[in-house]
Amino acid sequence: MGTEGLLSPWVLCLLLWVQPCRGAAEVRLANGGRRCAGRVEVKLQDQWGTVCGANWDMSDAAVVCRQLGCGVALGAPQYGHFGPGSGPIWMVYVSCSGTESALSDCSHAGRGESYYCSHNLDAGVTCSGFVRLVGGDSPCSGSVELYDRDQWKSGTALSVHGAAHLGERSGAAWDRELQCVGNESSILFCPTGAARDETCTHGNGTHVTCTQYTGFRLANGSTACEGRVEVEVLGTWGTLCASRWDLSDAHVLCGHLGCGFAESIPGGGHFGRGTGPIWRDSFHCDGTEAHLGQCPVTALGASPCPPENAAAVICSGLSPGPLSLRLVGGESRCDGRVEVFQHGMWGRVLDEQWDMQEASVVCRQLQCGEAEAAYTPVKAERGLGPVGLRGVWCAGHEANLSLCNTSLPESKPAAGIMEDVGAVCQGSRRVRLADGAGRCAGRVEIYYQGCWGTVCDDAWDLADAAVVCRQLGCGGALEAAGSARFGEGSGQIWLDGVNCSGAEAALWDCPAEAWGQHDCGHKEDVGVVCSEFMALRLENSDGCSGRLQVFYNGTWGSVCSNSMTTETVSLVCKELGCGNEGNQETTSIYAKLSGTAWLDHVECGKHNSSFWQCPSSPWHPQSCDDLREETHITCTGNSEPSRHQVLFPTGYGEMQRRNPEGL
Ligand SMILES: *[C@@H]1O[C@H](CO)[C@@H](O)[C@H](O)[C@H]1NC(C)=O
Ligand SMILES: *[C@@H]1O[C@H](CO)[C@@H](O)[C@H](O)[C@H]1NC(C)=O
Ligand SMILES: *[C@@H]1O[C@H](CO)[C@@H](O)[C@H](O)[C@H]1NC(C)=O
Ligand SMILES: *[C@@H]1O[C@H](CO)[C@@H](O)[C@H](O)[C@H]1NC(C)=O
Ligand SMILES: *[C@@H]1O[C@H](CO)[C@@H](O)[C@H](O)[C@H]1NC(C)=O
Ligand SMILES: *[C@@H]1O[C@H](CO)[C@@H](O)[C@H](O)[C@H]1NC(C)=O
Ligand SMILES: *[C@@H]1O[C@H](CO)[C@@H](O)[C@H](O)[C@H]1NC(C)=O
Ligand SMILES: *[C@@H]1O[C@H](CO)[C@@H](O)[C@H](O)[C@H]1NC(C)=O
Repeated sequence: MGTEGLLSPWVLCLLLWVQPCRGAAEVRLANGGRRCAGRVEVKLQDQWGTVCGANWDMSDAAVVCRQLGCGVALGAPQYGHFGPGSGPIWMVYVSCSGTESALSDCSHAGRGESYYCSHNLDAGVTCSGFVRLVGGDSPCSGSVELYDRDQWKSGTALSVHGAAHLGERSGAAWDRELQCVGNESSILFCPTGAARDETCTHGNGTHVTCTQYTGFRLANGSTACEGRVEVEVLGTWGTLCASRWDLSDAHVLCGHLGCGFAESIPGGGHFGRGTGPIWRDSFHCDGTEAHLGQCPVTALGASPCPPENAAAVICSGLSPGPLSLRLVGGESRCDGRVEVFQHGMWGRVLDEQWDMQEASVVCRQLQCGEAEAAYTPVKAERGLGPVGLRGVWCAGHEANLSLCNTSLPESKPAAGIMEDVGAVCQGSRRVRLADGAGRCAGRVEIYYQGCWGTVCDDAWDLADAAVVCRQLGCGGALEAAGSARFGEGSGQIWLDGVNCSGAEAALWDCPAEAWGQHDCGHKEDVGVVCSEFMALRLENSDGCSGRLQVFYNGTWGSVCSNSMTTETVSLVCKELGCGNEGNQETTSIYAKLSGTAWLDHVECGKHNSSFWQCPSSPWHPQSCDDLREETHITCTGNSEPSRHQVLFPTGYGEMQRRNPEGL
């Protein structure tokens, strides 16, 4: 209806009388859950109505998708797939060639009520949307492609969070930049840059992960870079619960908001309480993500959160000033190649005699702790941009680089110096669990001096495991595994003879041999299983049907079926690699139950991409009322069940039965 705004009300009146002869009639899609899918609705004579599904096909759907700027048609469901509409049935026997620019340009047989059509036969469409993701490992990740002038083109999204590319592809490239700030509710609202002259290759394609978290902000702080954490979930702002909020999560948020890094996470109530809902979602960031939406999220079994227990953060708030530093290309903000901010831009730092004295100053200035290593990046990691400093001489105790002797790139004696420099600071140390099919179980790996390595099992026990579990926000330790129970790692064996009391904040704070000193091989790599390790299974031997069980706090338990949704059933089947759908089996047999049930009121919604994100009542060993209330599912897909999730904790179930006292 683009031109109508220019017409006087009088002309508009005339136009309405002569509809549907001139101009494209407005079209919208209803009840599909998103803008680009749903029941087709057409506005004629100023009234919204529907389209009869008889004879409705993909050519017709293609026209609707094009008219709405929704990409290409993926489906043309005929008979009331998106529910019955209301109002007139404006068009029956629609027959588009597929090239029309509007549905009202297609031939049809007029209004439908005079024929046999009813609203139960309303036509629908599913369009691809304006944006699609290709080449990722799930429907919600991949490289961005944009539909533009009848073709998919790869997009360069400037600030779509955490751009990282997935390999080259063929096809056209979108020749504009999407300049998203991050607060837009849809990529459609991101400003686009001018068409670019330079050739844009697919190597620059942007990788995104969809998120239902549409905004982040800090409330009630004295600056924009501190406050109570507020998160917008699909348009509703609420306060984030502090129960699982940690410094790694806070670093990610500060970085995303352009506020530097997290200096501290004050306890509940520091910045008052919010008025909206309290989100109980837990983010599990490792600190390197560009955006909280990239971190794994769990909500299943979360305990109620009192409103005063709001997550908060005080960020460093540094916008770069002269001689500000950053480390790039490492695993965190505390390791990588050194860059310095000069004349409004970041430049490389080159030096020939770069050692621990200089690295110490860099680490100190960045508040990253002691220096662990000073290094010269290998060729592939060298910088390409402008040079900020050429030659740096520090005594080692300086508070920052501006107190060292430095020479600018153009100064004579330094002109020949070409080597980039890097630093690894203590703040880059990390621990992770590998090959255990989850965040909270697996082989212990430590990042130290810029390299991942493992831990040897001499003297490894539950107190040591407890430190690792706590450090990862994974609860308590259930098992301290030795002998490469989670497979052999590679690279360095960083620690041996670890002897924690259990109270240490980090594994490297425990007494142990010096870093890298050991008499071990990788066959002695240690692992842990923490109480927050979760897994899912269907009990029958095919792995795709039977009683639904979740593994939590060291035991398998069932799930009571109150408020079970079809989304929950589908997510279980997907999670287990058993297809996309399933049925909940009901039994009418009454029998008392003996086993534990962990969960009830699991209510997955259509936005949840994993079972662990679904809201439910808190984790609690309980029992369902009787057999009729336990959840049994039969998945209708026939894919292979995913071996990890089904097989790994099975041993625990058996151990439990043999040894009811525990592990
Ligand atoms: C997004 O943020 C920019 C500034 O960063 C602001 O100008 C704009 O109005 C914001 N848009 C919305 C939808 O909040
Ligand atoms: C895209 O990548 C190519 C080579 O990988 C590079 O030459 C070009 O400058 C990049 N363009 C942008 C806009 O980053
Ligand atoms: C903001 O925080 C202060 C304490 O720092 C508190 O007194 C005040 O009530 C808070 N305001 C709101 C709106 O929460
Ligand atoms: C910095 O330069 C001054 C003057 O040339 C010299 O005295 C001092 O030793 C230098 N400091 C370092 C750390 O090289
Ligand atoms: C460096 O430290 C000095 C002395 O502490 C301080 O005056 C100066 O502002 C600092 N500069 C930077 C860039 O941090
Ligand atoms: C571990 O530390 C305790 C003290 O916390 C000490 O008694 C014990 O001997 C140590 N074990 C080893 C193997 O070093
Ligand atoms: C987990 O198990 C431990 C002991 O095995 C127990 O103390 C704790 O309360 C349990 N937690 C839950 C949520 O059941
Ligand atoms: C999961 O779905 C529920 C119910 O629709 C919703 O409230 C919640 O925000 C979703 N969480 C995530 C992380 O998608």
